[in-house]
Amino acid sequence: LSAQQSIVVQITEESGSPQISKHIYGHFAEHLGRCIYEGLYVGEENKIIPNTDGVRNDIIEALKELNIPNLRWPGGCFADTYHWKDGVGPKEDRPTIVNRWWGGTTEDNSFGTHNFLNLCEELGAEPYLSANVGSGTVQELIDWVQYTNHDGISPMADWRRENGREEPWKVKYWGVGNETWGCGGNMTAEYYADIYRQYATFMPGWSGETEVYRIASGASEDDYHWTETLMKNVPHELMEAVALHDYAVIDWSNKGPSVNFDDEIYFKSMEQALKMEEYVTKHIEIMDKYDPEGKVDLFVDEWGGWYDAEPEVKNGVLYQQNTIRDVMIAGTVLNTFNNHARRVKMANLAQMVNVLQAVILTDEEKMIKTPTYHVMHMYKVHQDAQLLPSKIDKNKMFRGLPALSVSASRDQAGKIHISLVNIDPENNMPVELDISGLDIKNINGQVLTSDRLQDYNSFDDPEKVTPKEFKGAKLKKGKISLVIPAHSLIVLQGK
Ligand code: AHR
Repeated sequence: LSAQQSIVVQITEESGSPQISKHIYGHFAEHLGRCIYEGLYVGEENKIIPNTDGVRNDIIEALKELNIPNLRWPGGCFADTYHWKDGVGPKEDRPTIVNRWWGGTTEDNSFGTHNFLNLCEELGAEPYLSANVGSGTVQELIDWVQYTNHDGISPMADWRRENGREEPWKVKYWGVGNETWGCGGNMTAEYYADIYRQYATFMPGWSGETEVYRIASGASEDDYHWTETLMKNVPHELMEAVALHDYAVIDWSNKGPSVNFDDEIYFKSMEQALKMEEYVTKHIEIMDKYDPEGKVDLFVDEWGGWYDAEPEVKNGVLYQQNTIRDVMIAGTVLNTFNNHARRVKMANLAQMVNVLQAVILTDEEKMIKTPTYHVMHMYKVHQDAQLLPSKIDKNKMFRGLPALSVSASRDQAGKIHISLVNIDPENNMPVELDISGLDIKNINGQVLTSDRLQDYNSFDDPEKVTPKEFKGAKLKKGKISLVIPAHSLIVLQGK
């Protein structure tokens, strides 16, 4: 392997470089298809599937292994139809709700605020409540904040105690509407900025020491006007974050299959996924212009690959399979977030169970971990680690797209981790990592790949795509040389 053939990547340690917020590894669970009902939540009365307060134990265990830092709920588009008061108190008294955005199913509101917040406690994850602005009221939102966070005497805190919960949950993260440019109300940026100011004014002050973090519904993809308007029209002391949404979709009217895709569809998916780099860069440029001190964070609270749903799956609204293409999407997008850790402080993969780029799929008693689960597991080493800036010299191109994606960090124990993705479907890629300034003596790693891009984990073959030990990295004189196989993802660890 000669240095000339290899792509050279410089990885350095800079004292001022940011911490990669663990919240970049956040998740999202919406009332949609079989994400909550028939997925995560099987009901307290279920005697067949082992559960804790109705939530499947196998899912809880799998999620704990991911160290999930935060979980966003109840939507999505569903959030702007959801009235939280209908989901607390005795279950038999709860009204139903028709899930008008997703399949028109009638839900019984049996999974509500207590179930969600208790689950987050069980997982050690920060809850992120996405509040109803589109069809709700300011009063409804501040009542929710009082219900979950107030530890004094107040109507909502007293009601919480009546419903069996003494201590407030101290919820920090609050979304003020979702996709308010679309399903959340079809608002203009200017109109929403005003509405946002109104809602945000009444939200803090219920929580003692708990900081309430108000998250504005942000732009879709390249809607820079939206970000510009929010940054210009909303006082920054009212807004802790702006949340961008960006899915890797090839065509909204024909999204293509989740498994039987061809080379052309693969290329288009990667083209879309890699746009995250451009969108994040440009939204940050706007934020820097209005907020050079970096008070307002950029969140990407919905991201992932979105394909046509699997037609044969009952109630499977937005249910899709998960292949090596999803590994390529997750690996490259997470590298982008890591590399922009200065401003990107949270991201939420859509969605956790049985919906879109899920980490978990279920079929009655069966549960499997998808290839994307394994990416999140391999990348968890970056959570709260210090970013090590990396510079790729002369990237190889795959049909005009950069074939190699890299990010690196040093964790609190001093270990370094380098995540590398080769999206080229056919060609192996020799790489030389220059880590001469990092004082590393040993290197080991894991690789995630499979023979075919279309390979996936099924209920009959749940271990088809799993991480394997990677022995191909050689460390010599401050340089690591390796060959990254075609369509594969590698995470190296050095100490
Ligand atoms: O994640 C599915 C949907 O995508 C969400 O409900 C909505 O916010 C977005 O359009």
